Amino acid sequence: MPSLSILLIDDDDSQREVLSGFMKKNDYKVSSYASGEKGLEAVKKNYVDLVITDFKMPGIDGLEVLEKVKEINPEIAVMIITAFGTIEDSVHAMKKGAWDYLSKPIDLDELKFKLKKLNQYKNLLQENENLRSRLSDESIESDIVYKSSEMEEVINMIARVSQSNASVLIMGESGTGKEMVARAIHESSSRSENPFVPVNCAAIPETLFESEFFGHEKGAFTGSHKKHKGHFEISDGGTLFLDEVADIPLNFQVKLLRALQEKEFQRLGSSQIIKTDIRIISATNQNIKQKVKNDEFRSDLFFRLNVIPITIPPLRERKDDIPLLVEHFKDKYARQNGIDVDKITQEAMDSLMRYSFPGNVRELENIIERAVILSRDSNITCEDIALKNTQELCEDIDTGLEEQVASLEKSMIKKALQESNNIKTEAARKLKISERVIRYKIKKYDIKV
Ligand SMILES: Nc1ncnc2c1ncn2[C@@H]1O[C@H](COP(=O)(O)OP(=O)(O)OP(=O)(O)O)[C@@H](O)[C@H]1O
Ligand SMILES: [Mg+2]
Repeated sequence: MPSLSILLIDDDDSQREVLSGFMKKNDYKVSSYASGEKGLEAVKKNYVDLVITDFKMPGIDGLEVLEKVKEINPEIAVMIITAFGTIEDSVHAMKKGAWDYLSKPIDLDELKFKLKKLNQYKNLLQENENLRSRLSDESIESDIVYKSSEMEEVINMIARVSQSNASVLIMGESGTGKEMVARAIHESSSRSENPFVPVNCAAIPETLFESEFFGHEKGAFTGSHKKHKGHFEISDGGTLFLDEVADIPLNFQVKLLRALQEKEFQRLGSSQIIKTDIRIISATNQNIKQKVKNDEFRSDLFFRLNVIPITIPPLRERKDDIPLLVEHFKDKYARQNGIDVDKITQEAMDSLMRYSFPGNVRELENIIERAVILSRDSNITCEDIALKNTQELCEDIDTGLEEQVASLEKSMIKKALQESNNIKTEAARKLKISERVIRYKIKKYDIKV
């Protein structure tokens, strides 16, 4: 743990030496001065975490030191040493913004304890600072990369809709970046300080929609041992992202519509009405209009969700984006894995430009991630692009990684289910995935259980 840098001001030579010696022995960085004037000059020149100053001194006294230090940098903590029995001085100093005080005769254990506390506090502040800057780095990293005019339209749309509260429906094939766009809308809206809550509607068992969205009270139904906040309550003030929205079952669609219209809902098992302020963004890779025609999706809900439609074209229809995306993912995974990758060969890039990417940007990202790890010299070659599929990919065949991965997943899930007598929990455990994920995938791959 990094330790505090301390500046000590005391006109009493022997006390100054004792204190400074003690703090140095405890691994703090200490510089000491015999007057307020000299001490303040030093504060101006070098940053310190803490100033410890005697209260009564000729010339500039402790209170004035406190005031001046706060003017120079309000983040510097100040501790005042007061004479025995002058509690009013300490109170006065605390009111003026002192971090703490010590009264004479100084108890060294107490000083040690106070320094330790301050040190922990400063380190915590620093961690928060680091975390914040890391978070903002990540949001830079998640910036949408594009060059094509098709994506430019999407970006313009994001800018326009983020200023409003209107519902947005994002349509596009799997892996085109729907969630990324939804996040970008939220981030650039006035709600960005509040939560963005993504909900995968395809992964929720039909009977649990109400409690997932509206929450429930303790004992509202069998198995509800605890009070539970639903997505509506959690996303209050922010954005609720309904991913795979076309998979919401009809009976819940009615309830969802009502809650959206009234801007209020009730927890299961409670009569209390809770008001909400939520922006809804939904996404689907299905033909939801067709579902409306087939009466599988309520038209009134569809109109409510589809105030502003955004369609993200598949990657094969905006090939201009491929080179930039390749560069972006190459740098990202090279950095992440600490691997030096210089460039991607022309031949490899050509084959990527010819490929149709059924799994869109996500598939491209996976291909590049793997290639970075596999690249033996500093170049990414055709061989690195897709180990098993090299031939196909480089010879321009349209089946790719995504389908192969899907068929592998499907067969692994089938096998696990067989081995677990079709008990999903059991199969999920074998596969080291959650029960919800297995349900989702069973539905996605239409596996008969
Ligand atoms: N234009 C882009 N620039 C940079 N990264 C992108 C871009 N588009 C997509 N990605 C990345 O591709 C991956 C897939 O994107 P995302 O999850 O947003 O797609 P999706 O459309 O929601 O997919 P699905 O339908 O499968 O849920 C993510 O890792 C995302 O960061
Ligand atoms: Mg998604």
